[in-house]
Amino acid sequence: MLNFALVGCGRIAKRHSELLGNNQIAKARLAAVCDAAPGKAEAIGRQFDVPYYSDMHDMMRREKVDVAVVLTESGMHAEHVIALSKHRKHLMVEKPMALTLSDADRMIAACDTAGIKLFVVKQNRFNVPVVKLRQALEAGRFGKLVMGTVRVRWCRTQAYYDQDSWRGTWALDGGVLTNQASHHIDMLEWMMGDVESVFAISRTALVNVETEDTAVVALRFVNGALGVIEATTAARPKDLEGSISVLGEGGTVVIGGFAVNEMLTWSFARPEAGDDEVLSKYSVNPPNVYGFGHQAYYEHVVSAIMNNGQQLVDGLAGRKSLELISAIYESIETGKEVSLRFRPSRCRLGHRHG
Ligand SMILES: NC(=O)c1ccc[n+]([C@@H]2O[C@H](COP(=O)([O-])OP(=O)(O)OC[C@H]3O[C@@H](n4cnc5c(N)ncnc54)[C@H](O)[C@@H]3O)[C@@H](O)[C@H]2O)c1
Repeated sequence: MLNFALVGCGRIAKRHSELLGNNQIAKARLAAVCDAAPGKAEAIGRQFDVPYYSDMHDMMRREKVDVAVVLTESGMHAEHVIALSKHRKHLMVEKPMALTLSDADRMIAACDTAGIKLFVVKQNRFNVPVVKLRQALEAGRFGKLVMGTVRVRWCRTQAYYDQDSWRGTWALDGGVLTNQASHHIDMLEWMMGDVESVFAISRTALVNVETEDTAVVALRFVNGALGVIEATTAARPKDLEGSISVLGEGGTVVIGGFAVNEMLTWSFARPEAGDDEVLSKYSVNPPNVYGFGHQAYYEHVVSAIMNNGQQLVDGLAGRKSLELISAIYESIETGKEVSLRFRPSRCRLGHRHG
């Protein structure tokens, strides 16, 4: 049995605490929770009858913890992961792992020095239709890849951004590309392969925040395929779509729904047994935009720790996704196509004073 402790008891902690506290993950339990803000840890602690703290180091010293889960504001992940690594317990951190590449490097180095595993939560990779798409890709069914597209059309009003001062800031959050679409950007690169260059434009369309709420990105992949990212939190009046399409010479797959949760097209030039059932069998409707993936992600973490198995999204994979997002911002700021690898110079993500 692995003991998990939560650091940060805000919105996403609800999902983590319900999974762990209601014993929905085999061989995992909720051991303790902490939050620096008064009352938040207490509420979750009382709900699941576990000890609660206001100081993470206090919690780590006093409780038997195997994995600490960092659920704090994105711009604080680096500071918290590096501080927690001193306790030499495995760490899980919510996406995005950090907001600057230098922070991501420091986190990876700290965890390596401490001899612990670092997991970055990218739960959408475990969505049932996404796993099915990945299998088709690995089986070579697409042949030469032609184009990959992800689309995020979600609704986040001013009230969403106003609920916490960190939301929509360069220093602690980033815009739709970093926060909401980071899953889809990660998924696009995971499916299509390494990115050669990006060209992007963005705007802040419907809310008053520092960062973008709307962006369009054109990508060239190393393998020659092209890609498109369309991301907005300015869809009104409600969440509309979270989707990915992969087109290759051998066929096309489109996964849609509002959280990449519904297989819409499964079409291959050379059909295989079972293809007819894919649309009906590989769609699930999650209760919210976070999807079902957190449960599968926790199961993956437990198995990777207990069997010392391969991690699907470790620090390096998390960094890779952040590098792509940073390149996109670099293009937005410079108005030029940006080739990877590159050194961010104009990208504002993770920096104070815009
Ligand atoms: N995987 C997903 O789909 C998903 C969904 C939502 C949020 N997230 C990520 O989760 C993170 C948190 O988002 P949220 O919406 O829950 O934010 P939130 O503001 O609701 O919660 C963050 C909490 O961290 C606490 N905190 C800050 N510093 C602390 C410290 N030193 N010790 C203990 N607690 C501390 C804050 O008091 C706050 O309660 C973000 O990085 C976000 O991107 C991921």
